[in-house]
Amino acid sequence: MKKIAIATQPSLKRTESRLGYGLLFDASVLDEMKRLGSRFALFCDERIAAVIGKPWHAHLQKNGLDVTLLSFPAGEKEKSRERKAILEDRLLSEGFGRDTCIIALGGGVVTDLVGFLASTYCRGVPLILVPTTLLGMVDAAIGGKTGVNTQFGKNLIGTFYSADRIYIDPETLSSLPPEEWTNGIAEVIKYALIHSPQLYQMLRNWNRADAKQVEMIIHECVLIKAQVVEMDFEEKLGLRRILNFGHTIAHAIETIENYQLSHGEAVAIGMIVESFISVRMGYLTADALSEIEALIRSFPFSLKISRGVTREKMLSTLLLDKKSSRGAVRFVLLQKIGSCHPFNKEYCTTIPEKTLDEALSWMFSLFSGESR
Ligand SMILES: NC(=O)c1ccc[n+]([C@@H]2O[C@H](COP(=O)([O-])OP(=O)(O)OC[C@H]3O[C@@H](n4cnc5c(N)ncnc54)[C@H](O)[C@@H]3O)[C@@H](O)[C@H]2O)c1
Repeated sequence: MKKIAIATQPSLKRTESRLGYGLLFDASVLDEMKRLGSRFALFCDERIAAVIGKPWHAHLQKNGLDVTLLSFPAGEKEKSRERKAILEDRLLSEGFGRDTCIIALGGGVVTDLVGFLASTYCRGVPLILVPTTLLGMVDAAIGGKTGVNTQFGKNLIGTFYSADRIYIDPETLSSLPPEEWTNGIAEVIKYALIHSPQLYQMLRNWNRADAKQVEMIIHECVLIKAQVVEMDFEEKLGLRRILNFGHTIAHAIETIENYQLSHGEAVAIGMIVESFISVRMGYLTADALSEIEALIRSFPFSLKISRGVTREKMLSTLLLDKKSSRGAVRFVLLQKIGSCHPFNKEYCTTIPEKTLDEALSWMFSLFSGESR
Protein backbone atom coordinates (compact mmCIF):
# COMPACT_ATOMS: atom_id res chain seq x y z
CA MET A 1 0.00 0.00 0.00
CA LYS A 2 1.39 3.40 -0.99
CA LYS A 3 0.87 6.47 1.20
CA ILE A 4 0.78 9.94 -0.32
CA ALA A 5 0.51 13.10 1.76
CA ILE A 6 -1.01 16.11 0.02
CA ALA A 7 -0.41 19.45 1.75
CA THR A 8 -2.80 22.06 0.45
CA GLN A 9 -2.15 25.38 2.19
CA PRO A 10 -0.57 25.88 5.60
CA SER A 11 -3.91 27.15 6.89
CA LEU A 12 -5.84 24.29 5.35
CA LYS A 13 -5.95 20.69 6.46
CA ARG A 14 -3.73 17.99 5.00
CA THR A 15 -5.24 15.21 2.94
CA GLU A 16 -3.85 11.77 3.67
CA SER A 17 -4.21 9.47 0.69
CA ARG A 18 -3.78 5.73 0.32
CA LEU A 19 -3.39 3.76 -2.86
CA GLY A 20 -3.44 -0.01 -3.21
CA TYR A 21 -5.30 -3.00 -4.59
CA GLY A 22 -7.85 -4.33 -2.11
CA LEU A 23 -7.52 -1.25 0.09
CA LEU A 24 -11.26 -0.82 0.68
CA PHE A 25 -11.38 -4.05 2.64
CA ASP A 26 -8.17 -3.42 4.57
CA ALA A 27 -8.50 -3.35 8.39
CA SER A 28 -6.18 -0.34 8.79
CA VAL A 29 -8.48 1.73 6.56
CA LEU A 30 -11.47 0.85 8.69
CA ASP A 31 -9.58 1.88 11.85
CA GLU A 32 -8.66 5.21 10.27
CA MET A 33 -12.23 5.84 9.19
CA LYS A 34 -13.57 5.22 12.69
CA ARG A 35 -11.49 8.15 13.94
CA LEU A 36 -13.16 10.60 11.54
CA GLY A 37 -16.71 10.57 12.83
CA SER A 38 -19.30 8.72 14.83
CA ARG A 39 -21.90 8.47 12.05
CA PHE A 40 -21.09 7.92 8.40
CA ALA A 41 -23.10 8.74 5.27
CA LEU A 42 -21.86 6.76 2.27
CA PHE A 43 -22.97 8.36 -1.00
CA CYS A 44 -22.72 6.79 -4.45
CA ASP A 45 -24.70 6.63 -7.66
CA GLU A 46 -27.03 3.69 -8.36
CA ARG A 47 -24.64 2.02 -10.83
CA ILE A 48 -21.78 2.09 -8.36
CA ALA A 49 -24.09 0.97 -5.55
CA ALA A 50 -24.80 -2.21 -7.49
CA VAL A 51 -21.16 -3.17 -8.10
CA ILE A 52 -19.17 -1.66 -5.22
CA GLY A 53 -21.39 0.37 -2.87
CA LYS A 54 -23.54 -2.41 -1.43
CA PRO A 55 -20.75 -4.96 -0.75
CA TRP A 56 -18.51 -2.28 0.76
CA HIS A 57 -21.36 -0.91 2.87
CA ALA A 58 -22.08 -4.44 4.18
CA HIS A 59 -18.40 -4.90 5.03
CA LEU A 60 -18.22 -1.57 6.90
CA GLN A 61 -21.41 -2.27 8.84
CA LYS A 62 -20.31 -5.79 9.72
CA ASN A 63 -17.12 -4.31 11.14
CA GLY A 64 -18.84 -1.89 13.47
CA LEU A 65 -19.20 1.33 11.46
CA ASP A 66 -22.49 3.20 11.91
CA VAL A 67 -22.90 3.84 8.19
CA THR A 68 -25.93 4.59 5.99
CA LEU A 69 -25.80 4.01 2.23
CA LEU A 70 -27.47 6.77 0.22
CA SER A 71 -27.62 6.32 -3.55
CA PHE A 72 -28.95 8.55 -6.31
CA PRO A 73 -29.30 8.25 -10.12
CA ALA A 74 -26.06 8.17 -12.16
CA GLY A 75 -25.09 10.82 -14.70
CA GLU A 76 -23.62 14.29 -15.17
CA LYS A 77 -27.06 15.92 -14.92
CA GLU A 78 -27.24 14.81 -11.28
CA LYS A 79 -24.32 17.13 -10.49
CA SER A 80 -26.79 19.87 -9.69
CA ARG A 81 -27.90 22.20 -6.91
CA GLU A 82 -31.23 20.38 -6.91
CA ARG A 83 -29.65 16.94 -6.25
CA LYS A 84 -27.42 18.46 -3.56
CA ALA A 85 -30.49 19.90 -1.78
CA ILE A 86 -32.34 16.54 -1.96
CA LEU A 87 -29.37 14.72 -0.43
CA GLU A 88 -28.92 17.38 2.27
CA ASP A 89 -32.59 17.07 3.19
CA ARG A 90 -32.15 13.29 3.48
CA LEU A 91 -29.31 13.79 5.94
CA LEU A 92 -31.18 16.44 7.94
CA SER A 93 -34.37 14.38 8.12
CA GLU A 94 -32.37 11.40 9.43
CA GLY A 95 -30.72 13.55 12.11
CA PHE A 96 -27.13 13.53 10.82
CA GLY A 97 -25.26 16.20 12.81
CA ARG A 98 -21.79 17.68 13.11
CA ASP A 99 -20.33 14.32 14.14
CA THR A 100 -21.06 13.01 10.63
CA CYS A 101 -18.32 11.92 8.26
CA ILE A 102 -19.31 11.93 4.60
CA ILE A 103 -17.97 9.37 2.15
CA ALA A 104 -18.16 9.95 -1.62
CA LEU A 105 -17.73 6.69 -3.57
CA GLY A 106 -17.69 7.07 -7.34
CA GLY A 107 -16.46 8.97 -10.36
CA GLY A 108 -15.93 12.69 -10.65
CA VAL A 109 -19.67 13.41 -10.65
CA VAL A 110 -20.08 11.84 -7.20
CA THR A 111 -16.87 13.23 -5.69
CA ASP A 112 -17.58 16.78 -6.99
CA LEU A 113 -21.22 16.81 -5.86
CA VAL A 114 -20.76 15.05 -2.53
CA GLY A 115 -17.53 16.94 -1.81
CA PHE A 116 -19.49 20.19 -2.25
CA LEU A 117 -22.21 18.87 0.04
CA ALA A 118 -19.65 17.96 2.74
CA SER A 119 -18.09 21.43 2.51
CA THR A 120 -21.36 23.15 3.39
CA TYR A 121 -23.20 20.57 5.53
CA CYS A 122 -23.22 21.90 9.13
CA ARG A 123 -20.64 24.41 7.79
CA GLY A 124 -18.28 21.61 6.78
CA VAL A 125 -17.87 18.03 8.02
CA PRO A 126 -15.07 15.46 7.50
CA LEU A 127 -14.89 14.03 4.00
CA ILE A 128 -13.53 10.77 2.58
CA LEU A 129 -13.22 10.45 -1.20
CA VAL A 130 -13.13 7.01 -2.81
CA PRO A 131 -12.74 7.48 -6.57
CA THR A 132 -13.84 4.52 -8.72
CA THR A 133 -13.01 5.79 -12.23
CA LEU A 134 -9.50 6.22 -13.60
CA LEU A 135 -10.30 9.91 -14.19
CA GLY A 136 -11.50 10.24 -10.62
CA MET A 137 -8.34 8.58 -9.25
CA VAL A 138 -5.86 10.68 -11.19
CA ASP A 139 -7.77 13.94 -11.42
CA ALA A 140 -11.25 14.70 -10.03
CA ALA A 141 -10.66 13.45 -6.46
CA ILE A 142 -7.27 15.16 -6.16
CA GLY A 143 -6.92 18.86 -5.50
CA GLY A 144 -9.89 19.94 -3.42
CA LYS A 145 -12.19 21.34 -6.11
CA THR A 146 -15.86 20.56 -5.56
CA GLY A 147 -18.91 21.79 -7.40
CA VAL A 148 -22.10 21.45 -9.40
CA ASN A 149 -23.24 22.47 -12.88
CA THR A 150 -25.89 25.10 -13.65
CA GLN A 151 -27.81 26.03 -16.79
CA PHE A 152 -25.13 28.72 -17.29
CA GLY A 153 -22.22 26.31 -17.43
CA LYS A 154 -20.30 23.46 -15.78
CA ASN A 155 -18.76 23.64 -12.28
CA LEU A 156 -19.82 27.26 -11.75
CA ILE A 157 -20.96 26.80 -8.15
CA GLY A 158 -18.64 25.07 -5.70
CA THR A 159 -15.87 25.31 -3.14
CA PHE A 160 -12.23 24.50 -2.57
CA TYR A 161 -12.46 21.88 0.18
CA SER A 162 -9.78 19.35 1.10
CA ALA A 163 -10.85 15.81 1.84
CA ASP A 164 -9.55 14.26 5.07
CA ARG A 165 -8.75 11.00 3.30
CA ILE A 166 -8.61 9.79 -0.29
CA TYR A 167 -8.69 6.01 -0.70
CA ILE A 168 -7.72 4.79 -4.17
CA ASP A 169 -8.34 1.10 -4.76
CA PRO A 170 -7.59 0.20 -8.41
CA GLU A 171 -9.49 -3.07 -7.85
CA THR A 172 -12.67 -0.99 -8.27
CA LEU A 173 -11.67 -0.31 -11.89
CA SER A 174 -12.40 -3.94 -12.83
CA SER A 175 -16.05 -3.06 -13.55
CA LEU A 176 -15.34 0.23 -15.34
CA PRO A 177 -16.79 0.41 -18.90
CA PRO A 178 -14.14 0.81 -21.69
CA GLU A 179 -15.27 4.35 -22.66
CA GLU A 180 -14.72 5.47 -19.06
CA TRP A 181 -11.18 4.06 -19.21
CA THR A 182 -10.35 6.22 -22.21
CA ASN A 183 -11.57 9.34 -20.38
CA GLY A 184 -9.01 8.62 -17.68
CA ILE A 185 -6.27 7.64 -20.13
CA ALA A 186 -6.48 11.06 -21.81
CA GLU A 187 -5.72 12.75 -18.46
CA VAL A 188 -2.90 10.28 -17.74
CA ILE A 189 -1.30 11.12 -21.11
CA LYS A 190 -1.71 14.81 -20.27
CA TYR A 191 0.28 14.40 -17.03
CA ALA A 192 3.06 12.66 -18.95
CA LEU A 193 3.23 15.42 -21.55
CA ILE A 194 3.15 18.35 -19.13
CA HIS A 195 5.33 17.01 -16.35
CA SER A 196 6.80 13.54 -16.56
CA PRO A 197 9.08 11.99 -19.20
CA GLN A 198 9.18 8.87 -16.93
CA LEU A 199 5.39 8.52 -17.06
CA TYR A 200 5.60 9.00 -20.83
CA GLN A 201 7.96 6.02 -21.04
CA MET A 202 5.64 3.93 -18.84
CA LEU A 203 2.72 4.74 -21.15
CA ARG A 204 4.61 3.55 -24.21
CA ASN A 205 4.62 0.06 -22.70
CA TRP A 206 1.36 0.15 -20.78
CA ASN A 207 -0.38 -3.16 -20.25
CA ARG A 208 -3.72 -2.60 -18.49
CA ALA A 209 -3.77 -6.19 -17.28
CA ASP A 210 -0.57 -5.57 -15.31
CA ALA A 211 -1.86 -4.48 -11.89
CA LYS A 212 1.55 -3.30 -10.66
CA GLN A 213 1.94 -1.06 -13.69
CA VAL A 214 -1.58 0.40 -13.32
CA GLU A 215 -0.82 1.19 -9.68
CA MET A 216 2.50 2.83 -10.60
CA ILE A 217 0.83 4.96 -13.27
CA ILE A 218 -1.93 6.13 -10.91
CA HIS A 219 0.67 6.86 -8.23
CA GLU A 220 2.75 9.01 -10.60
CA CYS A 221 -0.34 10.98 -11.75
CA VAL A 222 -1.53 11.61 -8.18
CA LEU A 223 1.94 12.86 -7.22
CA ILE A 224 2.01 15.24 -10.18
CA LYS A 225 -1.45 16.66 -9.52
CA ALA A 226 -0.73 16.91 -5.78
CA GLN A 227 2.54 18.73 -6.43
CA VAL A 228 0.87 21.28 -8.73
CA VAL A 229 -2.08 21.76 -6.38
CA GLU A 230 0.13 22.17 -3.30
CA MET A 231 1.81 25.14 -4.95
CA ASP A 232 -1.41 26.75 -6.20
CA PHE A 233 -4.38 25.43 -4.21
CA GLU A 234 -6.85 28.19 -5.05
CA GLU A 235 -5.67 28.73 -8.62
CA LYS A 236 -4.23 32.14 -7.79
CA LEU A 237 -0.87 31.64 -9.54
CA GLY A 238 -0.40 30.49 -13.11
CA LEU A 239 1.03 27.04 -12.38
CA ARG A 240 -2.27 25.17 -12.06
CA ARG A 241 -2.92 26.19 -15.69
CA ILE A 242 -0.57 23.45 -16.91
CA LEU A 243 -3.33 20.98 -15.97
CA ASN A 244 -5.30 22.68 -18.73
CA PHE A 245 -3.00 21.48 -21.52
CA GLY A 246 -5.14 20.12 -24.39
CA HIS A 247 -8.30 21.38 -22.69
CA THR A 248 -8.59 24.76 -24.46
CA ILE A 249 -9.30 23.11 -27.81
CA ALA A 250 -11.12 20.22 -26.05
CA HIS A 251 -13.62 22.46 -24.20
CA ALA A 252 -14.43 24.35 -27.41
CA ILE A 253 -15.09 21.08 -29.30
CA GLU A 254 -17.16 19.66 -26.41
CA THR A 255 -19.26 22.83 -26.20
CA ILE A 256 -19.94 22.90 -29.96
CA GLU A 257 -20.68 19.16 -30.03
CA ASN A 258 -23.01 19.69 -27.04
CA TYR A 259 -21.06 17.10 -25.00
CA GLN A 260 -21.98 14.28 -27.42
CA LEU A 261 -18.26 13.54 -27.74
CA SER A 262 -16.62 12.07 -24.63
CA HIS A 263 -14.28 14.28 -22.60
CA GLY A 264 -11.36 11.90 -23.20
CA GLU A 265 -11.84 12.03 -27.00
CA ALA A 266 -11.95 15.83 -26.94
CA VAL A 267 -8.84 16.06 -24.73
CA ALA A 268 -6.95 13.58 -26.94
CA ILE A 269 -7.66 15.75 -30.01
CA GLY A 270 -6.92 18.91 -28.00
CA MET A 271 -3.49 17.61 -26.91
CA ILE A 272 -2.51 16.79 -30.51
CA VAL A 273 -3.65 20.22 -31.78
CA GLU A 274 -2.00 22.12 -28.92
CA SER A 275 1.22 20.17 -29.54
CA PHE A 276 0.98 21.27 -33.19
CA ILE A 277 0.65 24.89 -32.00
CA SER A 278 3.70 24.35 -29.75
CA VAL A 279 5.65 23.27 -32.86
CA ARG A 280 4.44 26.21 -34.98
CA MET A 281 5.41 28.62 -32.19
CA GLY A 282 8.92 27.15 -32.26
CA TYR A 283 8.93 25.57 -28.78
CA LEU A 284 8.50 21.86 -29.60
CA THR A 285 10.18 19.77 -32.31
CA ALA A 286 8.19 18.23 -35.16
CA ASP A 287 9.57 14.81 -34.12
CA ALA A 288 8.09 15.25 -30.64
CA LEU A 289 4.70 16.07 -32.21
CA SER A 290 4.86 12.86 -34.29
CA GLU A 291 5.72 10.87 -31.15
CA ILE A 292 2.85 12.42 -29.20
CA GLU A 293 0.37 11.73 -31.99
CA ALA A 294 1.59 8.11 -32.27
CA LEU A 295 1.26 7.58 -28.50
CA ILE A 296 -2.29 8.95 -28.45
CA ARG A 297 -3.26 6.88 -31.49
CA SER A 298 -1.94 3.73 -29.74
CA PHE A 299 -4.92 4.00 -27.33
CA PRO A 300 -8.52 3.28 -28.40
CA PHE A 301 -9.62 6.85 -29.15
CA SER A 302 -11.77 7.31 -32.24
CA LEU A 303 -10.46 10.87 -32.77
CA LYS A 304 -13.35 12.17 -34.86
CA ILE A 305 -15.15 15.49 -34.86
CA SER A 306 -18.41 16.17 -36.64
CA ARG A 307 -19.04 18.64 -39.48
CA GLY A 308 -20.92 20.85 -37.00
CA VAL A 309 -17.54 21.91 -35.59
CA THR A 310 -16.65 24.83 -37.89
CA ARG A 311 -13.81 27.34 -37.85
CA GLU A 312 -16.22 30.20 -36.96
CA LYS A 313 -17.75 28.27 -34.05
CA MET A 314 -14.29 27.23 -32.80
CA LEU A 315 -13.05 30.84 -32.85
CA SER A 316 -16.06 32.26 -31.01
CA THR A 317 -16.16 29.41 -28.46
CA LEU A 318 -12.41 29.57 -27.78
CA LEU A 319 -12.83 33.18 -26.66
CA LEU A 320 -15.03 31.96 -23.79
CA ASP A 321 -12.10 29.94 -22.37
CA LYS A 322 -11.22 30.93 -18.80
CA LYS A 323 -7.61 31.70 -19.81
CA SER A 324 -8.70 34.22 -22.49
CA SER A 325 -7.49 37.71 -21.79
CA ARG A 326 -8.47 40.99 -23.52
CA GLY A 327 -10.25 39.16 -26.34
CA ALA A 328 -7.33 36.82 -27.08
CA VAL A 329 -7.24 33.05 -26.59
CA ARG A 330 -4.30 31.76 -24.53
CA PHE A 331 -2.79 28.28 -24.69
CA VAL A 332 -0.62 26.10 -22.44
CA LEU A 333 2.23 24.98 -24.72
CA LEU A 334 4.87 22.25 -24.50
CA GLN A 335 8.58 22.92 -24.78
CA LYS A 336 9.39 19.21 -24.84
CA ILE A 337 7.71 15.94 -23.92
CA GLY A 338 7.32 16.17 -20.14
CA SER A 339 7.59 19.94 -19.78
CA CYS A 340 5.43 23.06 -20.39
CA HIS A 341 6.81 26.45 -21.39
CA PRO A 342 6.70 28.65 -18.25
CA PHE A 343 5.96 31.97 -20.08
CA ASN A 344 7.22 34.06 -17.19
CA LYS A 345 5.22 31.99 -14.65
CA GLU A 346 1.95 32.58 -16.54
CA TYR A 347 2.20 29.08 -18.07
CA CYS A 348 0.08 30.17 -21.04
CA THR A 349 0.42 32.53 -23.96
CA THR A 350 -1.47 34.16 -26.81
CA ILE A 351 -0.66 33.01 -30.34
CA PRO A 352 -0.86 34.85 -33.69
CA GLU A 353 -4.22 34.59 -35.50
CA LYS A 354 -2.45 32.99 -38.46
CA THR A 355 -1.08 30.17 -36.24
CA LEU A 356 -4.51 29.47 -34.76
CA ASP A 357 -6.01 29.41 -38.25
CA GLU A 358 -3.34 27.01 -39.42
CA ALA A 359 -3.88 24.76 -36.37
CA LEU A 360 -7.64 24.62 -36.96
CA SER A 361 -7.18 23.75 -40.68
CA TRP A 362 -4.76 21.00 -39.66
CA MET A 363 -7.24 19.75 -37.02
CA PHE A 364 -10.09 19.59 -39.57
CA SER A 365 -7.93 17.74 -42.11
CA LEU A 366 -6.86 15.20 -39.49
CA PHE A 367 -10.01 14.61 -37.45
CA SER A 368 -12.93 15.36 -39.74
CA GLY A 369 -11.18 14.03 -42.84
CA GLU A 370 -11.24 17.31 -44.79
CA SER A 371 -9.71 20.76 -44.74
CA ARG A 372 -12.03 23.72 -44.43
N1 LIG B 1 -12.87 18.38 -9.17
C1 LIG B 1 -12.00 18.29 -10.15
O1 LIG B 1 -10.85 18.74 -10.03
C2 LIG B 1 -12.37 17.59 -11.43
C3 LIG B 1 -11.39 17.26 -12.36
C4 LIG B 1 -11.78 16.57 -13.50
C5 LIG B 1 -13.10 16.22 -13.71
N2 LIG B 1 -14.03 16.58 -12.78
C6 LIG B 1 -15.45 16.23 -12.98
O2 LIG B 1 -15.56 14.82 -13.02
C7 LIG B 1 -16.75 14.46 -13.73
C8 LIG B 1 -16.46 13.29 -14.64
O3 LIG B 1 -16.04 12.23 -13.83
P1 LIG B 1 -15.86 10.74 -14.37
O4 LIG B 1 -15.17 10.77 -15.67
O5 LIG B 1 -15.24 9.98 -13.26
O6 LIG B 1 -17.33 10.27 -14.71
P2 LIG B 1 -18.62 9.89 -13.84
O7 LIG B 1 -18.48 10.26 -12.46
O8 LIG B 1 -19.77 10.45 -14.61
O9 LIG B 1 -18.66 8.31 -13.98
C9 LIG B 1 -18.82 7.76 -15.25
C10 LIG B 1 -19.79 6.58 -15.23
O10 LIG B 1 -19.10 5.43 -14.76
C11 LIG B 1 -19.85 4.80 -13.71
N3 LIG B 1 -18.83 4.23 -12.83
C12 LIG B 1 -17.96 4.88 -12.04
N4 LIG B 1 -17.12 4.03 -11.46
C13 LIG B 1 -17.46 2.80 -11.90
C14 LIG B 1 -16.92 1.52 -11.67
N5 LIG B 1 -15.83 1.32 -10.93
N6 LIG B 1 -17.54 0.45 -12.28
C15 LIG B 1 -18.63 0.65 -13.08
N7 LIG B 1 -19.15 1.85 -13.36
C16 LIG B 1 -18.57 2.91 -12.75
C17 LIG B 1 -20.67 5.90 -13.11
O11 LIG B 1 -21.83 5.38 -12.51
C18 LIG B 1 -21.00 6.75 -14.34
O12 LIG B 1 -22.11 6.22 -14.99
C19 LIG B 1 -17.21 15.70 -14.45
O13 LIG B 1 -18.35 16.21 -13.84
C20 LIG B 1 -16.03 16.68 -14.29
O14 LIG B 1 -16.45 18.02 -14.25
C21 LIG B 1 -13.70 17.24 -11.65
